[in-house]
Amino acid sequence: MSREHIDKVSGIPTTGHEWDGIKELNNPLPRWWVITFHITIAWAIGYTVAYPAWPVLTSATKGVLGYSSRNDVKDELAAAEAAKGNYVAAIQAKPVSEITADDALREFAVAAGAATFKVNCVQCHGSGAQGSKGFPNLNDDDWLWGGKAEQIQQTIAHGIRFASDPDTRVSEMPAFGDIITTDQIKQVGAYVASLSGPVQDTSLIEPGANVFAENCAGCHGENAKGNKEFGAPDLTDAIWLYGPGETAIAAQVRAPKHGVMPAWIGRLGEIKVKELAVYVHSLGGGE
Ligand code: HEC
Ligand code: HEC
Repeated sequence: MSREHIDKVSGIPTTGHEWDGIKELNNPLPRWWVITFHITIAWAIGYTVAYPAWPVLTSATKGVLGYSSRNDVKDELAAAEAAKGNYVAAIQAKPVSEITADDALREFAVAAGAATFKVNCVQCHGSGAQGSKGFPNLNDDDWLWGGKAEQIQQTIAHGIRFASDPDTRVSEMPAFGDIITTDQIKQVGAYVASLSGPVQDTSLIEPGANVFAENCAGCHGENAKGNKEFGAPDLTDAIWLYGPGETAIAAQVRAPKHGVMPAWIGRLGEIKVKELAVYVHSLGGGE
């Protein structure tokens, strides 16, 4: 390649390489390209000095800046932990009604409460809190003991008819099998059934209303709309804890079932109970 060849057609020197008569023009790279190329080399050298880069036996060179993405993650986790700590502290400090009114705090409490619910409550109330016979649905706005956040908190903390908690919700429907006659039970059964649907023997309704006024209105209310003080259900809404129909109603009057729900304050502590109350309140039926 001692002597430069000039391509006749283009007037550009060739490199001297030739394959079967095809020659290679010697077009140098554009200046800007070469400069950029050198800059990237300088950058790469600078980078490997500043940051971790070269693998050595068990780790890698650390770089003079001491940067590590692992530390980055650590810092982020620490920041997230601190934010969570702030939420937990706020949940501890504030009454549940204030927590439900604060969007960010409520969201946090609902997520935490949902997780606790999955572990402790679904076996009785169902995975969607939809309930089943004897276990109330927690999604609707029909409440035995009240659907305000504070009332729900009280129910969860101390349970219902849970003997070992002195603050538990009490009040039990008496067994009327010993108090009124079989006929009266039939009558009041027909009356109560008539409040939410058709009954077979409508002649029982009127005497049943009298039996109700004398024996039942004290707890269930004169209009049978229930009373949350006593956990006495609304008997007009066609939502039944123990099943619809005159037979089921008469059975409850004769020998009532008394639903029991455990107290959770001892097992879960105040913060978790508050989170649960906010979660249950958020399910759609909170008052
Ligand atoms: C052993 C079964 C059982 C478990 C576990 C249970 N519950 Fe209950 N819960 C009940 C029963 C039964 C009732 C209805 C009691 C009654 O008849 O008054 C009830 C009632 C309630 C009520 C009141 C509903 C109303 O209409 O006023 C709330 C709120 C509630 N439970 C929330 C929870 C939460 C939250 C948990 C989990 C920490 C939980 N329950 C775990 C059985 C249970
Ligand atoms: C001392 C208060 C009290 C009195 C009096 C009372 N009840 Fe009840 N009743 C309750 C409570 C509390 C419940 C809920 C039981 C439970 O949660 O396990 C209930 C539940 C019922 C239910 C079941 C509702 C459902 O959703 O399945 C029926 C029906 C009922 N009562 C009818 C009557 C009738 C009829 C009388 C009068 C003969 C009567 N009750 C008197 C407190 C009372």
